[in-house]
Amino acid sequence: MTLRFRELTPCIGAEADGIDLRQPLSSSHAEAIHDAMDRYAVLVFHDQDLTDEQHFAFTAALGPMEDARTSSLRNAEDFRLPTAFSDVSNLDGNNRVFEANDRRRLFAIGNRLWHSDSSFKATPAKYSLLRAVRIPSKGGNTEFAHMGAAYEALDDETKALIEELVCEHSQLYSREMIGFLEFAAEERERFKPVRQRLVRTLPRTGRKSLYLSSHAGRIVGWTLPEARLLLRDLTEHATQARFVYSHPWRVHDLVMWDNRQTMHRARPFPAHEPRDMRRTTLKGDAPTVEQVAA
Ligand SMILES: [Fe+2]
Repeated sequence: MTLRFRELTPCIGAEADGIDLRQPLSSSHAEAIHDAMDRYAVLVFHDQDLTDEQHFAFTAALGPMEDARTSSLRNAEDFRLPTAFSDVSNLDGNNRVFEANDRRRLFAIGNRLWHSDSSFKATPAKYSLLRAVRIPSKGGNTEFAHMGAAYEALDDETKALIEELVCEHSQLYSREMIGFLEFAAEERERFKPVRQRLVRTLPRTGRKSLYLSSHAGRIVGWTLPEARLLLRDLTEHATQARFVYSHPWRVHDLVMWDNRQTMHRARPFPAHEPRDMRRTTLKGDAPTVEQVAA
């Protein structure tokens, strides 16, 4: 089998074929995948009927992984998956669909805002790998926007304005945006903001990108209204249709994206239907900027 990539849009995304992700990943295939990620930012692998262990092994062959469990409101009894997995499903520990007004669900649907995974961690995520185990009868697409292309399309004045800016990211900010405001003291402590550069450079290509996320709620040294308005303007710019690929899920799809040069968002689907999606996440190399003690 020859591993090949076919472009999905002129700006972002490619479909891979000629690879069985159940098999151990060769170093030449790993290198080809890293190259394709640099180039396309989102890769779609269809018809990959993987176990969690195979999904884990494929991810681990691409680099060091994040531990995922501190990022949601799930309790220990809700954990359905091995520790390295983010449970992106709408299912509790007994595989029952969350009630529509369940707090864990209302927090989780914050992922319908444009964001970059783990931008609220000091060392944020590199790639995310999301696998569809069970999907709803309609809706539930994931949309991806290319932050490198969005950066390049900015005018020079805006590029100069934002070049050195540093934002504060927290899940408290993204949830505040959808009116989810009630957090326990332990959660506020766990979700306290971290700093990220607003413009970052992809190490292997030297390509700059906007590091935006709905988790970004402040800009260091700026007033809150000015900061929120700039972030909103940039997000509006960066998520225009010409920068976006919308992925319609099929069972056994595995989609991998580069959080350093994309944002993504989930789209709605019927709330009473099960949607079982499982994500592993590669850890980034380093913080994007020095952190300060809160
Ligand atoms: Fe996400």
